[in-house]
Amino acid sequence: MNHRVAVRAKRFSSKILDEARFFRTWVESPLKIGAVSPSGPALSRLMAGEAEPQRAGAILELGPGTGVVTKALVDRGIDTNRLIALEYNADFCQLLRRRFPAISVVQGDAYALRETLGDAKSGSLASIISSLPLFTRPLLQRRELLLEALDLLEPGAPFIQFSYALVPPVPAEKGLFTVERSPWVLMNLPPARVWVYRKA
Ligand SMILES: C[S@@+](CC[C@H](N)C(=O)[O-])C[C@H]1O[C@@H](n2cnc3c(N)ncnc32)[C@H](O)[C@@H]1O
Repeated sequence: MNHRVAVRAKRFSSKILDEARFFRTWVESPLKIGAVSPSGPALSRLMAGEAEPQRAGAILELGPGTGVVTKALVDRGIDTNRLIALEYNADFCQLLRRRFPAISVVQGDAYALRETLGDAKSGSLASIISSLPLFTRPLLQRRELLLEALDLLEPGAPFIQFSYALVPPVPAEKGLFTVERSPWVLMNLPPARVWVYRKA
């Protein structure tokens, strides 16, 4: 087998293993994972493309799972030392540490953001990229998480979220925060869109 074929075969088997891992986790706790398979490359690239690494501070990823969006951030050339990945699931954390040794992987609950991150200061983050299944939580809890996240971000910096829904996970609130939406990513299964929140 020549080298290129071997590399492709390795990538393919790693993708299949990730799909199986993801599906198993979904069977065990569907509301925590919120999707049956990892996001596709087009959605991952779109999410990573909305991050603003030109701003100072760390870039926080919420719900990285098997690391597809993490990989898109790394492929974009973002310094791995600036990335923090916050994930609830212990097996995914282990996998992420193995795959991205330079990234700071924190195991914990994104709905207790400040507590989980410990020393994060208001206005200190450059971007937050979230794949959390927000719609599995009540609106009030989603809004609280968003407000906490926006407070940790530098003023004007993006909170990036994907969803499969027609409506935003949290509606915009005049004077408090805005939301912009991307076109549908039809290459993703199921089709998804990306919502970008900023403090008003
Ligand atoms: C829909 S999956 C997205 C995974 C990956 N980013 C992707 O796009 O394929 C949601 C991820 O969020 C994690 N998650 C769910 N609730 C969480 C919470 N409260 N705190 C941290 N991570 C959470 C799940 O374990 C899962 O890995």
